[in-house]
Amino acid sequence: MKIAKTIEEVRECIKEWRNEGLSIGLVPTMGYLHEGHQSLVKRACENDIVVVSIFVNPMQFGPQEDLSSYPRDLASDIRLCEENGVDLIFNPQSGEMYESDFCSYVDMSVLTEELCGLSRPEHFRGVCTVVSKLFNIVTPDRAYFGEKDAQQLAIIKRMVRDLNFNVEVIGCPIIREKDGLAKSSRNKYLNEEERKAALVLSESIQLGKKILEEGERDSAVLVKAMKDYIEAEPLVRIDYLKIVDSVSMHQVEKLESPVLVAMAVFVGKTRLIDNFIFSISENRSDSFYTSENRS
Ligand code: PAJ
Repeated sequence: MKIAKTIEEVRECIKEWRNEGLSIGLVPTMGYLHEGHQSLVKRACENDIVVVSIFVNPMQFGPQEDLSSYPRDLASDIRLCEENGVDLIFNPQSGEMYESDFCSYVDMSVLTEELCGLSRPEHFRGVCTVVSKLFNIVTPDRAYFGEKDAQQLAIIKRMVRDLNFNVEVIGCPIIREKDGLAKSSRNKYLNEEERKAALVLSESIQLGKKILEEGERDSAVLVKAMKDYIEAEPLVRIDYLKIVDSVSMHQVEKLESPVLVAMAVFVGKTRLIDNFIFSISENRSDSFYTSENRS
């Protein structure tokens, strides 16, 4: 496994692999890797070559957010990548990605105007810009993103379509702890009490699915039931809980097409996100537990 710090090193490796006719899968991450990231890496092994980028992208953090405290453990990340058959880690410094006079951005309207885009106004511009750069540097055939960040996944898919990136974007299911909490690098911030309180996210999702499966189609009723459940826990504060069309990210009142039920909730000072997609025609949501954590 190679570890590249510069864009030039990455390009040299990619050129050699391309000359050999090998296919390339990219897993973009900000490091502090856990089983959620690992599931993306495992899926990316369907390519001949797997590249993982580890870069805490300053451009996607707001001024009051956790850029400086974002957890980092490169030694452990390297181990996880090595154990999972990664061929190349791209781990640039900020200056390698953004020169001091950097001034070109990839921005998106509409899809970024709801959910996390409302609470984190510059966030998706940072995500789209860095992912575009990674696509241009690595030129992958396929790139892997988690459904945990459902809005991010929808945005990257749209960006690839709108800007004609020659890459297939593949969404991978949410990996959870045994008790249901979605795995996240930010779970590290939670103390014992908060960790327990954080279960209201996944529990409210279970409740929401049950209500939908019983036939409720009024989004206001569903939102209220889920919010009431979450708000009964004193340690948490809802940032948003909304039901949107899973492609356009527009809020829906009556549930007709596949919908994304998405939430961001502060547990103490830690902001966690979770979601599920519900397909109305099939009266079915994606299975809660994936095969990885069913054991
Ligand atoms: P990061 O938060 O490190 O996540 C990297 C990828 O792992 C994302 O596609 C995310 O959706 C996925 N992921 C995280 N937790 C997961 C879980 N529990 N189950 C399944 N997938 C999970 O998302 C980012 O980094 C950044 O915004 C990035 C795309 C790298 C751009 O900087």
